[in-house]
Amino acid sequence: MKITPLSNVMGAEVTGVDLSKPLSASDRDELYQAFLQHLALCVRDQRLEGVGAFLDAARNFGQPKVQHLESYRSDQYPEAGVITSEDRDVKDGKRIIRGTMFHTDESFIAEPPKATVVYAVTIPSKGGNTRYVNLQKAYETLDEATKKQIDGLMAIHYYGKQRPGRKVPSLTDEQLKNTPPVAHPVVRINEETGAKALYVHETMTDYILDMDRSESEALLRRLYDHSAQSPEFQYSHEWRTGDFVIWDDRATLHAATADYAENEKRLLYRTMIKGGPTHQHAAIGRRAA
Ligand code: SIN
Repeated sequence: MKITPLSNVMGAEVTGVDLSKPLSASDRDELYQAFLQHLALCVRDQRLEGVGAFLDAARNFGQPKVQHLESYRSDQYPEAGVITSEDRDVKDGKRIIRGTMFHTDESFIAEPPKATVVYAVTIPSKGGNTRYVNLQKAYETLDEATKKQIDGLMAIHYYGKQRPGRKVPSLTDEQLKNTPPVAHPVVRINEETGAKALYVHETMTDYILDMDRSESEALLRRLYDHSAQSPEFQYSHEWRTGDFVIWDDRATLHAATADYAENEKRLLYRTMIKGGPTHQHAAIGRRAA
């Protein structure tokens, strides 16, 4: 097995591994440690025959979880979904490229996934990269006064938040009812490495608890701009067919890029690895005024 960094920011390429076969315990451990260290791994040149084989490969990193929202789930395997250039919005039926705003997966539930795993089946000839942000670096480079200000703060994440002019896939009324607001720490500590990361993103973070609404908005805007607008924290993954990529949802944001030709196909299998609580006390406090 060879592990080579993909950039100075995050991510590593892995070659010499065949995920269609059971791994030895030492190879599995080496891969897992590399995942924790680099926050994203791309295992090249995989040949996984179907969603079942993909899920088996993903199990090397933990237990795949059932996707919270039924839309875009695989019928046969509720832990898996398929991202395709044919995706349609559940409400208006229009073609949609999902996940184009920087986000971390399912932060709108109380126990968000630890990681997301994606396998590239068909890739357009040009474009369709996935872009990542290293939220540990974003946290580390904040000034000391801001670190002091945000350590210990909690923020509400909510799928149904107002996002003027921004598009995320619609939810049915039933799905929205089953997806109430949840609280997470603004600075998330990785329970496996102890590393701190900013854990806010414009797609799902609504407001900071126990803070005046305008103060909350100004602080969040500053944190969003610091993290998601700075190229120095970003890595853009150019997909190759057969790439098996896992990234750490506790410490990264990601976004799809809607820049490929409409007549070209893009098809990826996707699952998320079960996570745990983001903090000890998940009670939701009062809404910002
Ligand atoms: C996602 O998992 O949010 C989208 C990744 C992609 O399609 O590039």
